[in-house]
Amino acid sequence: MFFKPVKHMSGEVTIPGDKSISHRAVMFGSLADGLTEVTNFLQGADCLSTIDAFRKMGIEIENTPEKILIHGRGLHGLTAPSSVLDMGNSGTTTRLISGILAGQSFESTLTGDASIQKRPMRRIMEPLSMMGAKLVSVNGNDCAPLHITGAPLHGIHYHSKVASAQVKSAVLLAGLYADGETLVTEPSLSRNHTEIMLRTFGADLSAEDKTAKVCPEPHLQGQKIHVPGDISSAAYFIAAGLLVPGAEILIKNVGINPTRDGILKVAREMGGNITLLNENYDGEPTADLLVKHSHLHGVTIEGDLIPTLIDELPIINIMAACAEGTTVIRDAAELKVKESNRIDVMVQYLSAMGCDITGADDGMIIVGGQPLHGTEVDSHLDHRIAMSFAIASLIADGETEIKGSDVVNISYPDFYTDLARLCK
Ligand code: S3P
Repeated sequence: MFFKPVKHMSGEVTIPGDKSISHRAVMFGSLADGLTEVTNFLQGADCLSTIDAFRKMGIEIENTPEKILIHGRGLHGLTAPSSVLDMGNSGTTTRLISGILAGQSFESTLTGDASIQKRPMRRIMEPLSMMGAKLVSVNGNDCAPLHITGAPLHGIHYHSKVASAQVKSAVLLAGLYADGETLVTEPSLSRNHTEIMLRTFGADLSAEDKTAKVCPEPHLQGQKIHVPGDISSAAYFIAAGLLVPGAEILIKNVGINPTRDGILKVAREMGGNITLLNENYDGEPTADLLVKHSHLHGVTIEGDLIPTLIDELPIINIMAACAEGTTVIRDAAELKVKESNRIDVMVQYLSAMGCDITGADDGMIIVGGQPLHGTEVDSHLDHRIAMSFAIASLIADGETEIKGSDVVNISYPDFYTDLARLCK
């Protein structure tokens, strides 16, 4: 797909539901008794992989344009899948479902696309094995395909080396089937949607500082869940609003959970003009974001802030390339094991656009302020790379070609339509 610079941007956009919350609604609804109704569910390929997996394990899930209806069968209601479970491109489905499958009374095999088959699974295999789970990497490379034989599980206190909501959630979900309490402590707090939503469904779960604790064998009851807009998808329009001269964009109904709002903190620290309107703190917090064109300057992004904006670092790189001065990003080695190696890929294509960017083992240094030039970008099967360079193309001179641009289907199927509507 080809992109050209834009003269002006304005208008309103309502972005689709949060990917992390949509996955969890299907999973926990399947493990609950009775009906779970989910509105504003993200109809992206990743979340459809989750629906597909639970249907294969005997859960009836109705997917209508207005809502998803999940006919849950309780904590022990899943049945053995008749074929291999295909996780597609979804790391969240793969890692969270492994925690659930570890405690079942049947065997299962998980696989996924080329990207998923390269992503590290040792991080969940290690704690789940400590709990007594029987998980094998079929090719012996600590990646999917994974073969899981359900087994009796023991509660543990796991001290995770990485701040990862996927690891934390896999262990907590296995903890639902354990013989005692399960605790997870992480080095920095990662997104806490599992903790919030499991409690809503009736789990005995507490969280303090960087530790979450769950008690086994809860009675989960079906719920009505309204999914807020995904701040990770909003991030592209936040950047567009800040970077395109004269732009003013209203982004409606965005989730602003403090474990996810690092992009707002950083954008404001860079000098970004963002106003929160209609804030709502009932359940997962939400707000409308009014974003106006701003002159940005470089900042340092590190430490506990990193997990709160981990998926936004590619688009933050684009903001940094246009900001005056130097932006330093560190403590973000996790970028190397996302859908692509986001350090290498961002360095390769931002350099090609004329940006002064240097990669490091745990981040990058960007000296901003040079004009960007259109170039050819390969998405590397990574939706966030495609969307980040679509935004960069708006302020670069000449034409930008993004190969594999349809990968945005993973998290934001209407991204290009919504973007085109705002471009004047
Ligand atoms: C997610 C957690 C994060 C994030 C991913 C979604 C989740 O991954 O990057 O897009 O829904 O739990 P990690 O837990 O690996 O950091």
